[in-house]
Amino acid sequence: MTSELWTAVDDTIENLFLPDDPALSAALADSAAAGLPEIAVSPAQGKLLTVLARAAGARRILEIGTLGGYSAICLARALPADGRLVTLELNPLHAGVARANIARAGLAERVEVRVGPAAESLAHLAAEGVEPFDLIFIDADKLSYVAYLEGSLPLARPGALLIADNVVRQGRILDPGDDANAQGAARFNERLAADPRLSAVVLQTVGSKGYDGLAIAVVMG
Ligand code: SAH
Ligand code: DHB
Ligand code: MG
Repeated sequence: MTSELWTAVDDTIENLFLPDDPALSAALADSAAAGLPEIAVSPAQGKLLTVLARAAGARRILEIGTLGGYSAICLARALPADGRLVTLELNPLHAGVARANIARAGLAERVEVRVGPAAESLAHLAAEGVEPFDLIFIDADKLSYVAYLEGSLPLARPGALLIADNVVRQGRILDPGDDANAQGAARFNERLAADPRLSAVVLQTVGSKGYDGLAIAVVMG
C-alpha cells in the first residue's frame, strides 16, 4: 500500500515539529532495549497529544495504558508545574521502564504510574474521591475500551477532553471477524457515538504506525 509514503511524510513531520528530542528518543530506545512491544503512539501523534492537552488547559490528566511512558511524557509536558498525570499500567516491567523514562524527562514529580488492572485502578480512583481530570487518554487493551469509558467518565470534569487510540485498526472495525482489538474498537465507537454525555468523533490517521484512528470527545457539562 502507501505506507512507505505515509512513513516518509511522518519523518518530515517529525523533523519539522519534533527536532532533536532526547527525552523521547531515549524513552523509545530504553523501551525497545527492555523488550517492550514497539506500539507507543508515533512521534507526530505524541505531539498531537501535547498540543491537545495544552489546548484543553489540562491541569490533571488520566492515562490508561502506560507502556514505556512515551505518551505520558508527551501529555505531562503540557501540564503546569503543579499539574498531575496519573497513568495506569498492568505490567510491572512496563511501569518500571516508564518511571525511569519519565524521570529522565524531568517529569517524575508530575506523574504517578499505578500498577494493576486499569478497571480496578479506576474503581480505586473513584473510591478515593480524586479531583476530576481535565483530559483522559485511553490506550490499553482494546477489548476493555467500553469498560474504561464507563470507569473514567465519572472521573472527568464537565468540559474534559477524552481521547482514545487505535479505534480504526486498518479499517478492520468494519468487519472485525475474530480480531478482538477491532471488535473492541468497533463497540467502543458505537458506545461513544451513542453516549449523550459526550460530543465525539473519530479521526482516521495514517503515518509511521500505518492506518488507524483516534477518537476525540468532549464531556458535556
Ligand atoms: N500509551 C502508550 C502505549 C500503551 S500500549 C504510549 O503510546 O506510549 C498498551 C499498554 O496497556 C501496555 O503497556 C499494556 O501492558 C497495557 N495494558 C494491557 N492491559 C491492561 C490492563 N488491563 N490494565 C492496564 N494496562 C493494561
Ligand atoms: C497496537 C498499537 C497500539 O497503539 C496499541 O496501543 C496497542 C496495539 C498494535 O499495533 O498492535
Ligand atoms: Mg495505542
